[in-house]
Parts: sequence; structure tokens; C-alpha cells
Amino acid sequence: MRAQIINLWSFALVVLIMAGCTEGEMKNQTDKKMNLKRALFGQVDENQVFQYTITNENGMSVKILNYGGIVTNLFIPDNDGNKVDVVLGYDSIDGYLDDTPYFGAIVGRYGNRIAHGQFELDGQTYQLPLNDGKNHLHGGISGFDKKIWNAEDFIFPDSAGVVLAYLSKDGEEGFPGNLQVRVTYTLTNENELKIDYLATTDKPTIVNLTHHSYFNLKGQGKGNILDHQLQIFADKYVPVEDTLIPTGTLKPVDATPMDFTSMAAISSHIDQVDGGYDHTWALNGYDGKSVFLAAKLIEPESNRMMEVFTDQPGVQFYTGNFLDGSITGKQNTVYEKHYGLCLETQHYPDSPNQPGFPSVELRPGEKYRTTTIYKFGF
Ligand code: GLA
Repeated sequence: MRAQIINLWSFALVVLIMAGCTEGEMKNQTDKKMNLKRALFGQVDENQVFQYTITNENGMSVKILNYGGIVTNLFIPDNDGNKVDVVLGYDSIDGYLDDTPYFGAIVGRYGNRIAHGQFELDGQTYQLPLNDGKNHLHGGISGFDKKIWNAEDFIFPDSAGVVLAYLSKDGEEGFPGNLQVRVTYTLTNENELKIDYLATTDKPTIVNLTHHSYFNLKGQGKGNILDHQLQIFADKYVPVEDTLIPTGTLKPVDATPMDFTSMAAISSHIDQVDGGYDHTWALNGYDGKSVFLAAKLIEPESNRMMEVFTDQPGVQFYTGNFLDGSITGKQNTVYEKHYGLCLETQHYPDSPNQPGFPSVELRPGEKYRTTTIYKFGF
């Protein structure tokens, strides 16, 4: 009996020591390297909305919601030890509930436009809601940007993040098939915000997911992005008609205002583009599998830099043309035209109706798996 008690005690002691060590190590690692916190941000119906704050060892941090997979803040440290928030958004959940510019959100089931909201798959015609004039835009009236996602966080010595999961039911917003979606946001000690998308379906469907942060490397609310320098690694772009539906061919950027093959100020030719840039560039590096450098953005005064890596065929470069001073965002900032820019990695618009474009179909047994990385230099 006594021997058993001694054994029990030694076992408990070993467990305690082990637990202590493990916890101690983890704490040291996390204190020094990555840090992750969760706080209540608001309530949507009966659901609690949490904000995850992840900070890396260089002082860069990102805040992410389980509502819409929204990146609410992205802080980059500056030389004076202050932090500059480089994305547009709102201070509270209410702003995001009414939001129409898709600030910081995960967009789906189909990012960008589908002409007349119609497409055909395996001989069947599907009708989606028309929420952009006569076209379908960004997944419909209640797209993935307006959903509560199941969230689980993780932390390692050199990276931490949140895995967001959502089941988009068969018929939701007119799309066929139950789509299981998983989006993993990871912040690394290499100053990368990495987004891994995964989706599977039980019926043939179409998928095109993207991320819709509005970046301003000066800091959100500190003016417009026209003096940012941009390079897009694309020799061709996707010409569109007046409702922003592709004409079906790709055109060379050469000798057009779309030429960002060398670093150029966004202001250089924007006057020649009606309303501003809101187009897809056909990326040179696309081979259907590899992740490559798609674009590079520099804010000349602070020298802050962002590189965009992806495995997707296109990037939608949008200069916040529809911001018109009617939205008041974080810290009472009025967002005027061009106050932020989006670099949305994705398939080309209206791909389901364009036989010449890479396919966006997903069938049972297949995996939609793609990666995009926003990497910062400061
Ligand atoms: C996308 C579109 C734009 C606009 C914004 C949201 O980037 O291409 O035309 O609809 O989303 O305001």
C-alpha cells in the first residue's frame, strides 16, 4: 500500500515537473517570439465575435475576427517604436455588419463578378443574386465576409495564427454543393501574413476565394495611396467592358496605363483609367501549382514595403474608387477616394462563362487548395 502511495506521489511529481517545464518553455518561447491573444469584439445574433491578436518577435501584429475572417488591423512598427496600422476598417462590429467595401474580409464563394449572375455547370444553369447592377459580385448578398466562422488558434515558436472553418450549404446564395471551407491565417517571424485556403464539395460547384484588405502603407487614414510605388509581375491584363465583365481575351500591358512591369507610382497613369484601377492582371508566374512573387508595393516616404506572393492566375488591383467620404472608419477617419488599395489574388472575373480562362470548377473528391502571402518590409 505504502509503495503504491509513494509511486503515486512520484508519478504526480514527474507530471508536475514535466508540465512546469513544458509550460515554462512555451512561455519563454511565446514571450520572446510569438504572442497570441483572444478578446471579445462583439455579438452577432447569438454568436460571440472574437478578435485574435497575433504579434511576432519584430513587433508586427495582426488582428483577425471570426466574423467574415476579417483582418481589422495590421500594425507595422516604425523607426520611433510606434506602430502604424496599414489597413482600413472599423473600430467596432457594427461597422462590419453594414460594410459594403468588404474591408479586410475573406470573399467567397466566388470573389469578383459573374455576368448576369449566371453560369452553367454539367448542363445545368445556376442563377446567383445580382448584387452589382446586372452582375453577381463577391459571393452575393450574404457572402463569406458576413458569416461567423468556427475559429481555432495555434502558436509555434516562429508562427501563430487562426484556422477558420465554415460550411457553405448546398444552395446558399444560389451555389450548388455543400462547400467545406477552411482558411488559415498565419503570422510568421519573417513578417509574412500567410493565407491558406482549402475547400471541398459534395457536388460539382465553382470556387474563387480571396482576401480583401485595403492597404495604405502610410498608415490608414493618412491620405491616399496615389504616391505608393507598385510593380505587378504581369505582361498581360484582363480587359473589361463597362460593367467590369471581361471581354474574354487578355491584352499586353505594354504601352497602356496598365503597365506596372517596372516599379511606378500609382499616380503615373491613373488619370487615363476611368474611375481608377479595378482590373485583373494575368500573372506571369502562374503555372497552376507554384507560389511566386505577384506584386510589390512601396511607400516612398517611410520605405514600408509589401510583397504579394500567390499561386493564383490573377490579381485584382483596386484603388478604392468607390470610397467617397461616406464611410467613417477606425479612429473617426473619413475614407475618401483612393484611401486604400486592394491586391486581391484570385482567378479571373467571370471565369465560369469564359472557356479560355483557367477553370474554377471543383468536383467531389478534389481539393481547392491555394496560398497567398503578404510579406512586409519595414
Ligand atoms: C472589388 C471590386 C470592386 C469593388 C470592390 C468593393 O475589388 O473589383 O469593383 O466592388 O470590390 O467595393
